[in-house]
Amino acid sequence: MNMLESIDRTKLPRHIAIIMDGNGRWAKGRGEDRVYGHYEGVVSVREIVNACGDIGIEYLTLYAFSAENWNRPKGEVDALMELLVNTIRKEIEDLRKNNVRLHIIGDFASLPDICRKELNEAMDITASNTGLNLILALSYSSRQEIIEAARKIAELAAKGELKPEDINDGLFHKYLNTANFPDPELMIRTSGEYRISNFLLYQLAYAELYFTNVHWPDFRKNNLYEALLNYQGRERRFGKTSEQIQTNSTQHA
Ligand code: FPP
Repeated sequence: MNMLESIDRTKLPRHIAIIMDGNGRWAKGRGEDRVYGHYEGVVSVREIVNACGDIGIEYLTLYAFSAENWNRPKGEVDALMELLVNTIRKEIEDLRKNNVRLHIIGDFASLPDICRKELNEAMDITASNTGLNLILALSYSSRQEIIEAARKIAELAAKGELKPEDINDGLFHKYLNTANFPDPELMIRTSGEYRISNFLLYQLAYAELYFTNVHWPDFRKNNLYEALLNYQGRERRFGKTSEQIQTNSTQHA
């Protein structure tokens, strides 16, 4: 049986989040410029988006550019922004046809005008699609997102529109960039780094974390299936005991 057939379609995560790491190292290993790694990374993006759509994943969040990435050499930042614009332009027709809906999280206002224009158009064109929700994290900082949520809630409290005792997980969620999405159940990071790097810190509270040494440009659908099989082999306990989980699943079987 191949890996795809081994995946239990009734136990898929609804939301997968991915830190696409290792483009630079992949390129360096081939004696190429880092930007070449980003180009090849786009090929992986396309394959993983299609694979997630085909298998029935509802939400896929890709960490495409962190707020900290602005500190990279200007040439690399410019190349990444250009790549983003060109990729969206090239892929939009396929995204539309494949029923993929595009969303952006992060500091949208900090992106160059041309990126915002292209992304706004792509979001409009795909707005009524009902298949995979593809969420690109761009100029994204999870701490910043949490701080901004806290600030908005504090402003409402200061105006008397909200009582401090009303603040709970459900309310807090509504003020995050991800207000409309469920929390990821699976977070994948490529390239052998074991960090969260300011990515969805609040939302990953109960996520299963999957790390692989494979660099992002080499991460293709079989690597995704491997991650899904690994995820399905784990027991998600949410702080409960193993016995409680087993009793529960027998009761609901
Ligand atoms: C991390 O590799 C990757 C990035 C910072 C950019 C990811 C961007 C893409 C795959 C292309 C654009 C995306 C879309 C959605 C069109 P790294 O450069 O940090 O690698 P390194 O750790 O080996 O240096």
